[in-house]
Amino acid sequence: MSEPQKKMYSRAEFEQLRKDEAARMVGDKKLWADALDVKYRAGEYFWIHQTNWLGEPCLQLPQDMFAMQEIIFNTKPRYIIEVGTAWGGSLLFYSTLLEILGGGEIIGIDIYIPDDLKARIASYGKLSERIHWLDGSSIDPATVEKVNKITGGSREVMILLDSHHTHDHVIQELNLYSPLVGKGYYLICGDTTIEYQPESKVRLRPWGKGNSPKSALDAFMKTNDRFAVDTLIENKLLLTNNPGGYLKCLKD
Ligand SMILES: C[S@@+](CC[C@H](N)C(=O)[O-])C[C@H]1O[C@@H](n2cnc3c(N)ncnc32)[C@H](O)[C@@H]1O
Repeated sequence: MSEPQKKMYSRAEFEQLRKDEAARMVGDKKLWADALDVKYRAGEYFWIHQTNWLGEPCLQLPQDMFAMQEIIFNTKPRYIIEVGTAWGGSLLFYSTLLEILGGGEIIGIDIYIPDDLKARIASYGKLSERIHWLDGSSIDPATVEKVNKITGGSREVMILLDSHHTHDHVIQELNLYSPLVGKGYYLICGDTTIEYQPESKVRLRPWGKGNSPKSALDAFMKTNDRFAVDTLIENKLLLTNNPGGYLKCLKD
């Protein structure tokens, strides 16, 4: 009996297959609802806090980190600004990518950056040298001024907003930081998933449905035509903390 012939794809055909299948997957509402449910239920066991990069914790899903890697590879930003840095693993992740790709600097903003965290990240030598730490609130004008001083007016900027997740705070961040992003670069509004999930029973937070990064983003998008959701990225993620949050800048 002859064996069934496996179709051999060219790279271009494989790319098309991936896009088509991801677009088809978006239509499977049950699958997406199940994925959200798994993520919520696992989140009650701090699953999202279990990822490390080079030994340091990243409060991200690996799926989202891969999406960010794709964006960084495709756009090669001169500056990556992470608003809300927590344990610093995500900064090391961006730094590793910029090291491989060549060039670029990272700005990490947080209201709480203890000295031992700075020392830990500094122990990575070369990888830490491109990181600027900014202690302070993201919505303090003095913080934005410091950011502007570092970027020096460059708009080759990628931003990840991932700090305090209330509507009021995120909308202020969107208004303060979106002007820094130039055409072709990305603004990622983190933790939009909060809008779609039941409130956590183990982690009491001042945010929730209607008072979340997604509610802020929806309000922002009503008054802003510079950004659009990158559906090619979103369609394929399935497990993501940032649904509707991967925004590409369309015009300067
Ligand atoms: C979800 S964690 C960030 C996770 C990090 N982006 C990562 O990928 O690992 C949120 C961080 O935002 C910080 N934060 C809270 N309010 C802030 C504010 N007003 N300005 C800057 N950072 C803030 C917290 O201290 C915390 O470290």
